[in-house]
Amino acid sequence: MVKEKVPSNTQRGTVFVPERLKFFDRTKDFAVLATDDNGQPYASLITYAFTPDFRKVIFATPRNTRKYKNILSAGYVALLIDNRSNTQKDIMDTEAITVTGTVKPVRKGTARRELASIYLKKHPELKDFVKASSTVLVVLEIIQCVHVGKFQTVSVWDCHNP
Ligand SMILES: Cc1cc2nc3c(=O)[nH]c(=O)nc-3n(C[C@H](O)[C@H](O)[C@H](O)COP(=O)(O)O)c2cc1C
Repeated sequence: MVKEKVPSNTQRGTVFVPERLKFFDRTKDFAVLATDDNGQPYASLITYAFTPDFRKVIFATPRNTRKYKNILSAGYVALLIDNRSNTQKDIMDTEAITVTGTVKPVRKGTARRELASIYLKKHPELKDFVKASSTVLVVLEIIQCVHVGKFQTVSVWDCHNP
């Protein structure tokens, strides 16, 4: 049962969003990536890791996916990370963060090795996937993060203007 009253309107929150990014990175492996598929939204489940400064998100994808084609053509994405467990208790307790930013494939070299190592530290089971010649490592440079908690309490963090 939900004990608190569920709000009908949004409220501005004061959550320190980078702290919540840290929590999600520590506890959640998956996120929903939204891409622009020729003007139509397209959503995909992905496995992600933040860089230690929480300015970037790293993920990997096979070159022949629809999401990768969309990344190359649009250059902007949104990523939804959340801690829902699909119970009624979730309504007031769940938090979600929408991360928006630019994306690009990472070329082979030192930067790629560093990013791959951060990603694989969190997801060691994906070593073969990341090393496959068909896989591209992608980096999302964060522009904004929008956090929601208590159903409608919204806190915004502008990455370049914190
Ligand atoms: C738990 C889970 C994690 C996934 N992680 C990734 C991922 O990190 N990268 C990826 O490209 N696809 C991942 N996928 C598969 C994608 O969601 C997608 O179905 C597949 O890559 C096809 O992509 P497309 O629809 O863009 O063509 C994952 C699927 C599941 C079920």
